Amino acid sequence: MLLPATLFLWSIYWTQAASSQPHILVIVADDYGWNDIGYHGSEIKTPTLDQLAKEGVKLENYYVQPICSPTRSQLLTGRYQIHTGLQHSIIWWSQDSGLPSDSPTIAEKLKHAGYKTHAVGKWHLGFARVGYLPTSKGFDTFYGFWGGSESYSGHISCDDLHWSHVNHSRVCGLDLRDNLAIDRSQTGHYSTHLFTEKAIDIVHQHDKTKPLFLYLPYQAPHAPMEVPKKYEDMYSNIKDVNRRIYAGMVTCMDEGIKNVTNAFKKAGLWDDTILVFTTDNGGSIKNHGSNWPLRGGKGTLFEGGVRGAAFVHGNRLAKKGYVNKELMHVSDWYPTFVNLAKGSLQGTKPLDGFDQWNTISHGAKSHRTELLHNIDPLQVWGNRAFDDTFDNRVSAAIRVGDWKLLTGQYEGRPESKEWGKRPEGQGHGVVGRSSGQTNKVVRTSSGQKSIMLYNIRDDPEERHDVSAQHPTVVRHLLDRLKHYNQTMVPVHYPPGDVNALPNKHGGVWTHWL
Ligand SMILES: *[C@@H]1O[C@H](CO)[C@@H](O)[C@H](O)[C@H]1NC(C)=O
Ligand SMILES: *[C@@H]1O[C@H](CO)[C@@H](O)[C@H](O)[C@H]1NC(C)=O
Ligand SMILES: *[C@@H]1O[C@H](CO)[C@@H](O)[C@H](O)[C@H]1NC(C)=O
Repeated sequence: MLLPATLFLWSIYWTQAASSQPHILVIVADDYGWNDIGYHGSEIKTPTLDQLAKEGVKLENYYVQPICSPTRSQLLTGRYQIHTGLQHSIIWWSQDSGLPSDSPTIAEKLKHAGYKTHAVGKWHLGFARVGYLPTSKGFDTFYGFWGGSESYSGHISCDDLHWSHVNHSRVCGLDLRDNLAIDRSQTGHYSTHLFTEKAIDIVHQHDKTKPLFLYLPYQAPHAPMEVPKKYEDMYSNIKDVNRRIYAGMVTCMDEGIKNVTNAFKKAGLWDDTILVFTTDNGGSIKNHGSNWPLRGGKGTLFEGGVRGAAFVHGNRLAKKGYVNKELMHVSDWYPTFVNLAKGSLQGTKPLDGFDQWNTISHGAKSHRTELLHNIDPLQVWGNRAFDDTFDNRVSAAIRVGDWKLLTGQYEGRPESKEWGKRPEGQGHGVVGRSSGQTNKVVRTSSGQKSIMLYNIRDDPEERHDVSAQHPTVVRHLLDRLKHYNQTMVPVHYPPGDVNALPNKHGGVWTHWL
């Protein structure tokens, strides 16, 4: 009778382990390219990420949104941008915008389930009002910056008032917060080191009887190009100075992630931690990221903008060390985490994400067969093809099975015709400033119908538009876009407010409404 008794005890042990709430660590890299992670064959060294991914599950058919605020909004709410009003551009510093109050965040859900919730790094989901801030959106604590980008050591971000007709001088301000308090003490401290240290402090101070949710959106490797010399010097083989700095920024982040995971181990939390690593969007080609061999980059709906480098690590994975090719999306984390945490999905509006745990952990088929990449009614281009379905002049993209349809893509954008080869002679560029805060971009064109169809399984590089050969597929996907368009809420994209500017607030970016 000894054997069955032992088995019985084992089964109790495993049931308890699996029924407890795992710690959840979500690490987001910023503007991190498909070809900038070691295991995709990059020249950039990421030994920590490579090892973690090798021990876990690499997600190779996983999508994010093409720019910062949208991906973060979907990660935190589980809902598409067309359902939160954030379908156009990012949230700019001076805009009165944030996550809508009808969409509780993952932090609120996990907090409700008993988790301690902390965020360290970049917020970029609005700060005009206290109600938009991370500490009002379910995080017990926040350390980091509220805007979209800034200098890594000075913690200063600038607005060039490009949206103002009056005054085009640059206005700069400090953006570094310890909860609500401005932190002036870290000038000169490189943010990858700073955020790593703050994350480690949280891990060390954590009460082990409680489950931990740590959201760690690093600033790296977003522009500006800035890294301590030590990391840049690791890449004397790379000739282009900006790519060399970018590579250093990535390797420094990789080291930070090693330090954070070591802290989890030291604190005895690691064995029951689920780590998700994801980029927020594809690499920015003008800022020295590479998405090769994918087409396009940050800001485009081509694969280089939306197919994200990502993996999952954790003892709870039933199947480990494999590549998962099931269709997944950043909005899927929300129900996946809430269910892992034994939380409740009640009280949310209909989610666009799917619980993917079974898919990730067992390799089961994904529940997701469709993915709306976006519909942005404020970007319009081309000629209308059909009167009785989705207006293809509107910028949109959708994936149904292996098919991907893009509409309204402005064909003059150089990024849309890039397959990872960076144009020569580009300077630093100004951070995230390529798209103006205009209200509507309408470009006229002659003859272009502005519909593109790709079979992503056969042609992941989007080199062969097959829309002419597959009119029925085109029509079906346009009808699906029409369906999604019918569920869309109005775009929330208010004009910038001069009262936001730091010169009105003692040189800091702060909530002003
Ligand atoms: C433009 O804005 C800057 C910064 O706020 C200010 O110093 C300058 O005086 C303004 N210029 C004009 C012409 O209003
Ligand atoms: C990681 O930890 C080592 C050892 O404490 C330290 O020298 C290094 O600067 C840390 N790296 C980062 C990115 O925090
Ligand atoms: C989306 O739906 C709205 C409201 O029915 C309609 O006015 C608009 O033309 C539709 N957009 C597209 C791109 O079809």
